[in-house]
Amino acid sequence: MNILRLFLLGVLLSCVLAVTADTPVGHLQVLGSHRPPSIDIDEFTLDNAPKPEAFYRDYVRNGKAAIFRGAVLGSKGFNLWTDEYIRENYGELEARIEGKKEKGGGIPVGETYIGRDTLRHFVDTYHNSSSYMVSELPQQMFKEVGIIPSVGACGLMAKRFVEIDIWWNGGGGKSIIHKDAFNQINCLFRGTKQWKLFEYKYEKWIYKHVEREDAIGGFSDVNVDAVDLIKHKDFAKIPWSNITIYAGDCLYLPKSYYHQVYSEGTNNLAVSILFSRMDGLDEIDVSDCNDKTDYKAIKHLDEFDVMWKWNGSGYMSMGRGDLVYGHQQDLIENINDFGEDLTVDMLSESQGLIAGQAPKEKFPDLEARNISRAFELLDLNGNGRLSVEEVEGATWDALRYYGLQIEEYEPSNSYIFEYSLIPYEKVRWLVTECFKRYEKLTRAKWVKLYVKNLKGTEHYANIVFDGLAGSADVVVASDVT
Ligand SMILES: *[C@@H]1O[C@H](CO)[C@@H](O)[C@H](O)[C@H]1NC(C)=O
Ligand SMILES: *[C@@H]1O[C@H](CO)[C@@H](O)[C@H](O)[C@H]1NC(C)=O
Ligand SMILES: *[C@@H]1O[C@H](CO)[C@@H](O)[C@H](O)[C@H]1NC(C)=O
Ligand SMILES: *[C@@H]1O[C@H](CO)[C@@H](O)[C@H](O)[C@H]1NC(C)=O
Repeated sequence: MNILRLFLLGVLLSCVLAVTADTPVGHLQVLGSHRPPSIDIDEFTLDNAPKPEAFYRDYVRNGKAAIFRGAVLGSKGFNLWTDEYIRENYGELEARIEGKKEKGGGIPVGETYIGRDTLRHFVDTYHNSSSYMVSELPQQMFKEVGIIPSVGACGLMAKRFVEIDIWWNGGGGKSIIHKDAFNQINCLFRGTKQWKLFEYKYEKWIYKHVEREDAIGGFSDVNVDAVDLIKHKDFAKIPWSNITIYAGDCLYLPKSYYHQVYSEGTNNLAVSILFSRMDGLDEIDVSDCNDKTDYKAIKHLDEFDVMWKWNGSGYMSMGRGDLVYGHQQDLIENINDFGEDLTVDMLSESQGLIAGQAPKEKFPDLEARNISRAFELLDLNGNGRLSVEEVEGATWDALRYYGLQIEEYEPSNSYIFEYSLIPYEKVRWLVTECFKRYEKLTRAKWVKLYVKNLKGTEHYANIVFDGLAGSADVVVASDVT
């Protein structure tokens, strides 16, 4: 028998085997049907929770998740945050919203903008809408957010909070399998959440969606409603954890730990405290921990400095970089790479920017960018050169300003998100279609057609109409074309 025949026989045989083999356990069933959950997650209460030093060593450093039962029951938010209280005290503040199903379905329209709502309007509608608040938490609410002592009592972790987020929906919010860049303490204030957890070391079997190489987040292509174990056959090998988090509990989820979350209850509200990755750090500085440290008391977030804070209107800073382990360290590496202290031109060039000039892109709702100004803030002795010592001594304000200059603009953080969701071409198409049908177009008619066909807001429909007709309420086709 020659090689070709042997090969063909092999192909035939494997086809037959594939057809006759049993379909894999859990094939096309909901996530977690491939095998029973087998990885236990350690549980604590405030009474037996580890102190920061041990918590870092045994959990954070090792990428091990942990549950803190009832940890925020005594926090202010847990006791105060009724719909009425939030409407009354924070109603004017805004938050970012998305559809309940991640990476699917449209972006809902809030009180004024696409993807943005006021807390008042959200409270009045979330019980019966597809809106899922996935947002940076306005800092006005920090004073009611409890921090577990294992992270917040003392020590370095309490000084490395990067960002605070709120996750709030009326039940049924469901995520895909994904991982986040930062460590997080996720505390549930209302409702119940089902978490399915997959350790980072199994990433090779997770079928990670192909993304930019430098992305530290990431998600899996596996369909959580019907896992295709033929297409994604290695997924069946992943041992996993099935955990339930109740109101008052917190979950510590290490950076890069894959998870899928389902929200239950008609009011499901969680706050997530993101803290630095601290890659490669064997132990943390706990020199501020002493005999007087209370390891059982819940502190609140207003007692801490947070790298990125947002005050509930305008451009938010969700998804920005770590000031210390990101920007500060990158600057030091940059100086080391050049082998000498940086001038403003060296710094600008390394960031693809031009000293003293705003970059080409437009940032209508973000303060003008100016790398020269950032350089001035970092160059403490004003000698026109940036040294490692200066970067090490930089304040968070200076690093924040620098971060704002170099990080990418994120449309979903802004009011003008609609411009990126509904591109110029689509608006142009609708205008053309309208004038094919109507000789005269009224403002009211346009707004209705824009909202219906392009799924945008009345706000932007009016802005577009202003562009066509000025302040008039009717426009004639021949005037425009
Ligand atoms: C929820 O919304 C649906 C559709 O918009 C509507 O038919 C229903 O009456 C609403 N229910 C409540 C309780 O508001
Ligand atoms: C996971 O836990 C939930 C809640 O206890 C339970 O209803 C569900 O059946 C569990 N799933 C599996 C696959 O064990
Ligand atoms: C909120 O922040 C913006 C920009 O950071 C600032 O201009 C504004 O004054 C702040 N508003 C309040 C109420 O603090
Ligand atoms: C940028 O900042 C520098 C230094 O503060 C200043 O001299 C310059 O005028 C600024 N440029 C712009 C375009 O704002």
